[in-house]
Amino acid sequence: MSSQNIYILGIESSCDDTAASVIHNGRILSNVIANQKIHEEFGGVVPELASRAHQQNIVPVVTQAIKKANITKDQLNAIAFTRGPGLMGSLLVGTSFAKSLAYGLDIPLIDVNHMQGHILAHFIEEDGFNKPPFPFLAMTISGGHTQIVKVNDYFDMDVIGETIDDAVGEAFDKSGKILGLGYPAGPEIDKRAQLGNPKAFSFTKPKVDGLNFSFSGLKTGILYFIQKETKANPNFIAENINDICASIQYTIIGILIDKLKLAVKQTGIKHIAIGGGVSANSGIRKALKDGEQKFGWTTYVPKFEFTTDNAAMIAIVGYLKYLDNDFAEQNVAASARLKI
Ligand code: KG4
Ligand code: ZN
Repeated sequence: MSSQNIYILGIESSCDDTAASVIHNGRILSNVIANQKIHEEFGGVVPELASRAHQQNIVPVVTQAIKKANITKDQLNAIAFTRGPGLMGSLLVGTSFAKSLAYGLDIPLIDVNHMQGHILAHFIEEDGFNKPPFPFLAMTISGGHTQIVKVNDYFDMDVIGETIDDAVGEAFDKSGKILGLGYPAGPEIDKRAQLGNPKAFSFTKPKVDGLNFSFSGLKTGILYFIQKETKANPNFIAENINDICASIQYTIIGILIDKLKLAVKQTGIKHIAIGGGVSANSGIRKALKDGEQKFGWTTYVPKFEFTTDNAAMIAIVGYLKYLDNDFAEQNVAASARLKI
């Protein structure tokens, strides 16, 4: 086998983005995503609608990814797909399509764990981005997940902390909903936070032992605070929106950084890689940079398009598994609660 000329198609359909990407020897040739706007009016992802949209999007998205990569489907060496975790109806679309395509082309099928994808996205060959050395700590923060993972090797990972209720992205989105912001609210809170005073209001941080997270209490605390203040002043939100956003963001980032500090203390590992949509947040990026100065951390933030849900991260895992001859059988089943 020549490892010099490997083309893998990655397919991601675990939540509300239908995505496909072609990778050539670890370098991304195309990375196509169809975002599903339909969920915005509901203020969150509606699983049934997500599956239907995947069904509509999958063929055009895959076709475009192959076209943009400037190859033909006959040049593909394997098809990698997200097996889980995620929404079952959404996973089924990608899984079934990947199986059919691999079967039709008579090439191997590779199953990928979405969470490993977020972490191994750091190994995509990309100019100007360093790869973390093993072992490192990975913090995956998005609308669907919040985990701290000790990464010993590509496929040797231990989840050492995770949320016991909401994901950190949900904390942003649900706070935004209370404030009347659109969905998803994370980017808007981030923008406004940069114009506000992070210490204007204080919110109680949850007390959760060890490296686990909890965000649902914070959301309730914010709700009660807003209800109380708007009762006294109906214009409270409008008059203080930037300060409220800055204070919420400051609290959330504080929770994440406290846990990272504890994880570094417990493991002695100072290489920290982040992934997931919330890694776009300016507050977390600044806090990580500060950690480099204050605590001697080395931090790794992937290119933005590889942090949110995407298929390039599925393709890189596919490539690494291909090199290991680690293939799936045609009877592999999607798994909504797949563990790392
Ligand atoms: O990874 P992602 O695109 O999808 C999954 O949830 O898996 O992450 C989306 C989440 C949303 O909750 C969104 O509000 C949040 O990431 N997000 C942000 C920012 N950009 C996206 N949260 C805070 N600050 C941001 N700049
Ligand atoms: Zn994700």
